[in-house]
Amino acid sequence: MAGKTTVGRVPLTPEMLWPIDEYKEKGQYFYLEATDELLPNGRVHVIGHGEMIMLGGYSYLGLIGHPKINAAARAAIEKYGTGTYGVRLLAGSLELHNELEERIASFKQAEASVTMSSGYATNLATISSLLRKGDTVICDKLNHASIVDGCMLSLAKFVRFRHNDMDHLERRLREADRDGRVLVVADAVFSMDGDIINLPEVARLCKKYGAYLMIDEAHSVGVIGKTGHGIEEHFDLPPDTIDIKMGTLSKTIPSAGGYVAGNTELITFLKHEARAFIYSAAVPPPSAAAAKAAFDVIEEEPWRVESIQTNYHRFADKLRDAGYNLLFTETAIVPVICGSTPNGGALAKYCQDRGIFVQAIVSPVVPEGSARLRACISAVHTQEDIDYCADVIIEGGRKLGIID
Ligand SMILES: Cc1ncc(COP(=O)(O)O)c(C=O)c1O
Repeated sequence: MAGKTTVGRVPLTPEMLWPIDEYKEKGQYFYLEATDELLPNGRVHVIGHGEMIMLGGYSYLGLIGHPKINAAARAAIEKYGTGTYGVRLLAGSLELHNELEERIASFKQAEASVTMSSGYATNLATISSLLRKGDTVICDKLNHASIVDGCMLSLAKFVRFRHNDMDHLERRLREADRDGRVLVVADAVFSMDGDIINLPEVARLCKKYGAYLMIDEAHSVGVIGKTGHGIEEHFDLPPDTIDIKMGTLSKTIPSAGGYVAGNTELITFLKHEARAFIYSAAVPPPSAAAAKAAFDVIEEEPWRVESIQTNYHRFADKLRDAGYNLLFTETAIVPVICGSTPNGGALAKYCQDRGIFVQAIVSPVVPEGSARLRACISAVHTQEDIDYCADVIIEGGRKLGIID
């Protein structure tokens, strides 16, 4: 008899990697919490928990709710309404988008810039439109998922080098096929570890091997560099060190969207070839206006950048002195290593029960054995709140046997 034909459907949702019910049973599921009010000083009101200190968000400079930024968003609604007519290439570009792109270009000391509807879409569209079959893209192993997805979409040969390992990067560059383009891509500040890419060495190697360089500044703008201008300022390198300067408008900049800054040729190319620009609607006017005002505020209120750097040191020094491993972070992202997944979940619960909104990051997002609390420090956290959070994490770590 012929083989059985299957009638019916394979389940639409494949097996999940997350044992959600298990986390819920232990009271350790803190994802997708409903918050109903963002409060001053990096606090948040969480439904069912009350007021908490926010260590889970990316409002690095505390710009959400800034009066100048809110006023700019309101004025944009009055002038333009809440949306665009669709894609800018066909429906026309608002003057506001052009102004925002000029502002980003001047902030990043580039000739021009282009914005898209999210940072994720920007990475996807930029990498996949620049590279073709026969090209090579070389990534740091810890690059953000949106970079990885852009590489896979590009059809270029996709290779990775060990995290921040310059010898390995050089080996990858030596092996790359020079008949095609070679692009090196890295996060400026790594989103799970908080450390900084060795830009001087990456840039030197790219020059030596004729490769282009793209850096994702999602977690560096507003955070590093004496005045918050990001990674070139941090290393005191000239503004043309990076060919493709990518960033988001959703973290330090309290809006939504992504951008690429670079030379005019690159930006004109992306405006006519990047699929997320051509086939997806523009950043809505209030978001564009808010983003533009936020770049001004970073420059007008330098105390914010100074404060985030002071707060980082105050917090990280206390935790390191108590024996915590914080990897190589030197930025506002502080990975507090807990080891096993159960340790990560238990320490997150210990903090959440004491009014600190912080998440455990566990396998498969980070390798098994390196589960962590990921604490994000803000310029507007008070010193008392920074000390309180560090003390609770230390006390919890001792009770749970994570530190001595
Ligand atoms: C390094 C990095 N790049 C890109 C993105 C995507 O940005 P967006 O949230 O604006 O889409 C993120 C978001 O978390 C990120 O951390």
